Amino acid sequence: MKILGIESSCDETAAAVVENGRAVKSNVIASSLDKHKLYGGVVPEIASRCHAEAISGVVQQALDKAGCTMQDIDALAVTYAPGLIGALLVGVNFAKGLAFACNKPLVPVHHLRGHIASNYLTSNLEPPFLCLVVSGGHSHIVAVNGYTEYKVIGRTRDDAAGEALDKAGRAMGLEYPGGVSIDKISKNGMADAFEFPHPKVDGSPYDFSFSGLKTSVINIIHKHEQRGDNINVPDLAASFQKSVVNCLISNLEKAALNFGYNKIVLAGGVSANSLLRKECAAMCKRRSWQLQLPELCYCGDNGAMVASQGYYEFLAGTIAKSSLNAYATMPIDIINF
Ligand code: KG4
Ligand code: ZN
Repeated sequence: MKILGIESSCDETAAAVVENGRAVKSNVIASSLDKHKLYGGVVPEIASRCHAEAISGVVQQALDKAGCTMQDIDALAVTYAPGLIGALLVGVNFAKGLAFACNKPLVPVHHLRGHIASNYLTSNLEPPFLCLVVSGGHSHIVAVNGYTEYKVIGRTRDDAAGEALDKAGRAMGLEYPGGVSIDKISKNGMADAFEFPHPKVDGSPYDFSFSGLKTSVINIIHKHEQRGDNINVPDLAASFQKSVVNCLISNLEKAALNFGYNKIVLAGGVSANSLLRKECAAMCKRRSWQLQLPELCYCGDNGAMVASQGYYEFLAGTIAKSSLNAYATMPIDIINF
């Protein structure tokens, strides 16, 4: 079964053709990232306009690269939530029009379920497993008990991990997105140069809080500026990255132990982070747990992950009506469209 997956929840216009949820036939991404760099973050209006300009060409390229026409496609899958509403609407409306015109079923896909499915593209991974989903907008520890069965065990109380990295990077004067810049520059820094407090979160022992760490970075920078000192940015970046990764790993380890999971999976843009991947591998080795990391090319937003999850949603009977809408927020464990 060939599925055409369409993604437009943030700044990537993406489309892909994937067979039976696993075999990637094509994966085309057009990013408007460069246009947002000037502003230090994604500007929703610019993102929407770029999606509208790019989407027909991206979908056509995905079909061409897969050697397909719409006749060869069995179903369409589209990210309908969560994300930037104007951006999501471009993908959803395009997919609705194409599905209607070609008389094909349309499957709505939750963006984070898609990120988790990026792991199905390069391995024979099957649920159940415990997944740390870390992106620009979300930081969740999710028990994935089936292809469409999820239970959120921990979540961030404030900023997402990617958001905190992006904001800290901006405060350090690094290029957007800060997460990518911090990962790069940290390789030249000493991770024990600055100390950050381990944030305390009331309530769930698996929840995260990153806004305090981000404020600490900003305070350190201000103090140095006031004293007229030059700050060692690679050292600061490396220390901050280490403290974010420590928070993520320590809660993930606790959750895996307490809920009895021995298969650990990462997903989302931040799963590309080299220290997070290294520390996760070290934890799994120490505990003799199985580890699955998404390939770097599937960590960020892409159409293949949407097509993959779309396959499993289709098998579970989830088909959109022509009234399908987009939603800026939506819990991962609910299908509501
Ligand atoms: O999943 P994604 O592409 O978009 C959302 O769904 O949000 O994630 C984007 C986030 C950004 O915050 C970006 O800084 C972060 O992923 N990111 C990284 C790395 N690559 C992307 N963070 C740390 N290290 C990286 N190598
Ligand atoms: Zn994403």
